[in-house]
Amino acid sequence: MDIQNLLDDIVGAVEPLTLQGDVADYIPGLASVGLGQFGISVATRNGDVFSAGDADVPFSIQSISKVFALALVLAGDGDRIWRRVFREPSGNPFNSLVQLEHEDGIPRNPFINAGALVVTDRLLSISANAPTAVRELLRQETGNPSIDSDADVARSEAAHGHRNSSLAHFLASYGNLENPVEEVLEAYINQCALAMSCTDLALASRFLATNGRRSNGTSLLSPLQTKRINAVMLTCGTYDAAGEFAYRVGLPGKSGVGGGIVAVVPNNCTVSVWSPGLGRSGNSVAGVAALDEFTTRTGWSIF
Ligand code: DON
Repeated sequence: MDIQNLLDDIVGAVEPLTLQGDVADYIPGLASVGLGQFGISVATRNGDVFSAGDADVPFSIQSISKVFALALVLAGDGDRIWRRVFREPSGNPFNSLVQLEHEDGIPRNPFINAGALVVTDRLLSISANAPTAVRELLRQETGNPSIDSDADVARSEAAHGHRNSSLAHFLASYGNLENPVEEVLEAYINQCALAMSCTDLALASRFLATNGRRSNGTSLLSPLQTKRINAVMLTCGTYDAAGEFAYRVGLPGKSGVGGGIVAVVPNNCTVSVWSPGLGRSGNSVAGVAALDEFTTRTGWSIF
């Protein structure tokens, strides 16, 4: 398999789609990112990296950070988090409020905003500083010490974060937050504002394709925990489009409203894509098409 050749082909194939969709303007700091950009990277379980297009342009990882926060909580705290958050697909938008009341303050899964707030809350309880813990994991796995949270993006999300504030207060009203609402929101927003390139994202998530093994050879997660995270990514990682994503791509994946998606081919590689134009459910239009092309041409879907 000539992976480099394939990635170069995919860049050409999805180019017309990079002008489709809309950037996420509900976070003003993301609204100025230009359409027409696309990057793709593959990091293999052996540590080889292949990249094409705008793969070295940093972007806001947003909800993709929820995977790393969950990994750190499972690594540090075992299965306890599952008493406070379910792991079923929500079928609702990622920032929906309604389901949380019907289900008595237990979010449907750790990747919708309500569930991610609970995970970040737990990370705050078990580590001194949640966004720093996520950032350190990303820096260590990539070897890139310049990965950081984008202060402008964080500030603009904080200034327009009424929905997440509502969700956090709602969780607190059900007793499902351990830390003060403002601290949880700040940690969550800073974690979402972490910026990195496709190349770094593929490297940072490689532990999901290596049974939990980190780049330095130690284990972040057990093979069982890694299987669990990949399963939740498959069923919940792309929100109310998770069925369509499984149908088209056939891999565990996690999207963010910055236009990034990371997908995992278990025991083989991670594939990251970035293109800022989003479809209705908040997933990158060109990114999903590129992953569809990737699994169709390689045969590397889990189905
Ligand atoms: O909380 C939010 O709304 C954003 N910080 C993250 C949302 C997101 O990336 C959803 N993904 N597609």
